Amino acid sequence: MISARKPDPTILIIFGAGGDLAWRKIIPALYNLFLDGWLPDNFEIIGLDLKTFSNEKFKKRLKEGIDNFSRSGKAKLEDWKKFAASVSYQKADFTSVESFKKLSHRLNEIEKKWGVSANRIFYMAIPPSFIETIAKQLGKSHIAKDKNRARIVVEKPFGHDFVSARNLNRIICDIFDECQVYRIDHYLGKETVQNMMAFRFANALFEPIWNRNYIEHVQITVAEQVGVEHRGGYYDHAGALRDMIQNHLLQLICLIAMEPPVSFNADEVRNKKVDVLRAIRKYSKEKVNNYVVRGQYSEGWMEGKHVTGYRNEPGVDPKSVTETFTAIKFFIDNWRWQNVPFYVRTGKRLPERTSVITIQFRPVPHRAFPVESIESWQHNRLIINIQPEMSIRLSFQAKKPGLKMIMNPVDMVFSYKDAYNSNPPEAYETLILDTMLGDATLFMRGDQVEAAWEVVMPILNVWQVSSSEDIPNYAAGTWGPEEAEALVARDGNNWLISPAISNETKKKKSK
Ligand code: BG6
Repeated sequence: MISARKPDPTILIIFGAGGDLAWRKIIPALYNLFLDGWLPDNFEIIGLDLKTFSNEKFKKRLKEGIDNFSRSGKAKLEDWKKFAASVSYQKADFTSVESFKKLSHRLNEIEKKWGVSANRIFYMAIPPSFIETIAKQLGKSHIAKDKNRARIVVEKPFGHDFVSARNLNRIICDIFDECQVYRIDHYLGKETVQNMMAFRFANALFEPIWNRNYIEHVQITVAEQVGVEHRGGYYDHAGALRDMIQNHLLQLICLIAMEPPVSFNADEVRNKKVDVLRAIRKYSKEKVNNYVVRGQYSEGWMEGKHVTGYRNEPGVDPKSVTETFTAIKFFIDNWRWQNVPFYVRTGKRLPERTSVITIQFRPVPHRAFPVESIESWQHNRLIINIQPEMSIRLSFQAKKPGLKMIMNPVDMVFSYKDAYNSNPPEAYETLILDTMLGDATLFMRGDQVEAAWEVVMPILNVWQVSSSEDIPNYAAGTWGPEEAEALVARDGNNWLISPAISNETKKKKSK
């Protein structure tokens, strides 16, 4: 996250190299790191999968992935050739000792050629059910025994609930030291999410008001327009709470709510985040329904196109009660945040794609202005747009130019596009580079994942036994079920969408 040096010689071993994640995210990210000069001179990618590919066919597929998904566009032939020279494929059965012997042989061969011991990064781009098998094989074959150089990267979902996550941690930590394990939450690699640390801890301006005395409430919306796409089989066993809140949204809460770290040492930062997770109030089963809303989308209209309901998506049980939308009112029981609601919501098939955090400040203690001078009155707000717009807005009251004292809200805007005019790295670029550098600050530590599961377990436990007959309860293309509106309306609030989004929507509608 912080270092500007290039990594040491590295061999990146991708388990599941024939899958979607490697195709869409990992390889395009590596390619961009290569283009931007971040890869070490001694660098090698070994793809492993059950599928049968020749080296050439494997590389052809990877190039297609880059052409389709890389932020830098289609690969130029010359660049691609240089990059592809360090890529190879090995067909592997992850249960077979032989496959790991062969891999071991290849790793030794490469290191011998380079004349150094390289970083060996074992990337689990595979369904969670394979993690245990592969971790054990890595242990038995001794190819990951150098604790300073061997690292294992694990994707989410990390466990299905608290118990399975703890078991998975035990299995992995039997073989690896915690400092070798890089659990990915890709939200933490997003440029705008990383900037939240800079914003909070590199500026003196906001810290004095960053607490319950000045902040009235916090809202986090992570809205997606897409449905479950081709992932119905996975999603139907997960749902929005497991898929988004347990990881991405709780991590955003941590960044907003954490105490200032003493240093940017990985453990120091993660300790402060774990403190937040532990302080989040856990609701008793009688109270869960007062603070949590679930929803599922039925058919509807998205930007003029008819879309199917969740239960008709491929891979989904036609009677599924899995939630595709969740809204929760959280509280953080500590001195800084006591009684400040943190409203979070996330869902699929919502009207806009937007991830936005709004900090709403308390109102002025006394309005001295006459009623007629207030055209529109709004609390001061800080709006952190994570995506698609990347910006921070500070919204405050201003006098409208003219002979009368009339006020309305205006925004002071920091836009990444205007300030930097650059094409920022994708989350996976940052995270893969950090893995190569051995910087785990932006990765989930074992206890952090478990603490996050502990926050959502009371809700999952209630949902597991209570019926949800009203599901599906929101039409695709709407902002979720009415109960989600009621959740905030009970406190006299409403869900806020960023002015950036409202402007976009207005533009689209006027076309
Ligand atoms: C993933 C979830 O972790 O995040 C997906 O599994 C979701 O369901 C995705 O669509 C959202 O990520 P992003 O970066 O597009 O906001």
